[in-house]
Amino acid sequence: MQAWVIGNWKQNPATLQAAKTLLADINTELKSADLAACRLMVVPSLVHVSSLQQQETAIAIGVQDISAHSAETGAFTGDCSAAQVRDAGATWVLVGHSERRQYYGEDEATLYQKIKNALSQQLGVIFCVGETKEQYDSEQTFSVLASQLTVIEQLLAESNEESLAERLIIAYEPVWAIGTGKVPTVEEVASTHTHIKAVIQGYAGAEAALGEPCVLYGGSVNAANAAQFAQADSVNGALVGGAALQADSFFAIAAAFSTAKSNS
Ligand code: 13P
Repeated sequence: MQAWVIGNWKQNPATLQAAKTLLADINTELKSADLAACRLMVVPSLVHVSSLQQQETAIAIGVQDISAHSAETGAFTGDCSAAQVRDAGATWVLVGHSERRQYYGEDEATLYQKIKNALSQQLGVIFCVGETKEQYDSEQTFSVLASQLTVIEQLLAESNEESLAERLIIAYEPVWAIGTGKVPTVEEVASTHTHIKAVIQGYAGAEAALGEPCVLYGGSVNAANAAQFAQADSVNGALVGGAALQADSFFAIAAAFSTAKSNS
């Protein structure tokens, strides 16, 4: 499968002009090189999406959140719906990022509703999972992930979607690796990805709806360490935070994945 390298810009940059420049710079890099085996996506601040999607680019645009309450319109002050972000030009949404789970108390029921709303408006979903440092230290990683992934089990059980293969990406982001410069070993990441794929493939309906799930690694990925993660067969790409805010480092990560996946 083709790799995905996705830049989660979080609450950056400070201005629309800086966001436009960053996307334009990534696009310039993209035109100068052939990334045959890697697709690119950026996930900017919601307020920048409609301006950025006007730029001529092959880079997909996602959003960082959508309303759990309504897929369309309603009295939900501060929310933005799946239909509205779709209309603004985004085609994907992040759901379950650890910062949303931690700072906004998003629980499994909320995440499930967001996924349903996204899919109902033809948005793809990047569903994020990952363990905390305490859970990692007490060797609970696999059980924590299995519990977080039950949202996908429920989706498959209740879904009448014909195919999720092009519309569902899983991102494994250990909470302790996000923004810290600390990363698990490639062997740990590879075996965790194999576990995630096996858990999902064990769900009823998974084979027909998904085939092999696309699983990205996220957490302190940078231009220097991307190639080692890219070499692992079970790692289908990267979800990048800090290093996605510079066009050259983001592009270097994408190039590392494209090279590794075209050779495999
Ligand atoms: P960093 O790459 O800055 O560690 O962030 C990862 C992340 O949270 C992407 O969603």
